[in-house]
Amino acid sequence: MKSAMDEGLVAPNIAAIVPYVPGKPIEELERELHLAPGDSIKLASNENPLGPSPRAVEAARAALGQAHLYPDGAAWALRRALAERYSVSTAEVAVGAGSNELIDLLVRTFCGPNDEVLTSECTFLCYELSCRAAGVPLRTVPLRDFTYDLDALAEAVGPRSKLIFIANPNNPTGTYVGRAAFERFLDRLPARPILVMDEAYFEYVSAGDFPDGMRYRERRPQLVVLRTFSKVYGLAGLRIGYGIAPAEMVSYLDRVRTPFNTSAVAQVAALAALSDDEHVARSRDVNESGKTTLVAELRKMGVEVVPSQANFVLCRVRRPAAEIFQELLRGGVIVRPMGAYGLLRHLRVTIGTAEQNRRFLAALRPLL
Ligand SMILES: Cc1ncc(COP(=O)(O)O)c(C=O)c1O
Repeated sequence: MKSAMDEGLVAPNIAAIVPYVPGKPIEELERELHLAPGDSIKLASNENPLGPSPRAVEAARAALGQAHLYPDGAAWALRRALAERYSVSTAEVAVGAGSNELIDLLVRTFCGPNDEVLTSECTFLCYELSCRAAGVPLRTVPLRDFTYDLDALAEAVGPRSKLIFIANPNNPTGTYVGRAAFERFLDRLPARPILVMDEAYFEYVSAGDFPDGMRYRERRPQLVVLRTFSKVYGLAGLRIGYGIAPAEMVSYLDRVRTPFNTSAVAQVAALAALSDDEHVARSRDVNESGKTTLVAELRKMGVEVVPSQANFVLCRVRRPAAEIFQELLRGGVIVRPMGAYGLLRHLRVTIGTAEQNRRFLAALRPLL
């Protein structure tokens, strides 16, 4: 029998998509290696090792009793709370099933086959996936010192450039672009392209010269700032993120999104998480001290580590990273090999709790 491809049922742009490989789920590893439940640790998807805020868990639990009802499709209460936090109007807030959905919606809403999306090489892979799925050409410029090269990006802007994605800090490198480079970039950028600042790791940043995207909304009218509840807020499993953008842009995203794109449980959990400053502060502290220890210990072992402003580090090992990844798995430790980015000697490791970091280091040491 002929496959759907042979019959021409799959569009060429879809057939060309290389499937995204997420961090290996703990349950999958335990099933495959017959490990006892709870014996493994996952430092592969930049999740919060402290889990969600207890307030978010409580709110989610309470909402389950109303699970027979459709959610508020406009996510009004959450959007109002976000609007208050950022001193913008509710009409300027968009929410999505993770910021990933907003990335996808931005491409589908604003770009067509005659436009082009610009970003960097070695950045969040979902920009490319969304472009491919929508049949929108993507152009990338190389990183410089593992960092977005904004001069090259400005240089690359042409008449077809419709949307620019900048992940700041970047995933998988953890590096950031500083204020001076960002402002120089804004000065050079023509008025037309929509600039998307993807700040999924914003809350972890400690660098004093980090350019908070929200502060540039007046200077750059067509600016979208994306943030998420998946990282410092510990709600990755509920899929909820948001974007702050001009009201008119939000109204177009609203036309394209599915009517109930975020669940009622996710909305109330996010709202509760937003009010738990203490949990956010603790999560940042655990990340900062864990990162300091992890980086120091890795460097002592001769592993090169790229300086990171996020909740993960990119490190270069002296053996093929895919092998080390497999050997770590056997010890019940999941990290992320970077082959998908063409980095064959790099692993990306999420900062865990002190205990998880110790366990990772102990498992890695004999493999080097
Ligand atoms: C740079 C960046 N942007 C966006 C996302 C998407 O996160 P989510 O869809 O969970 O909000 C991630 C997730 O890892 C990321 O690293």
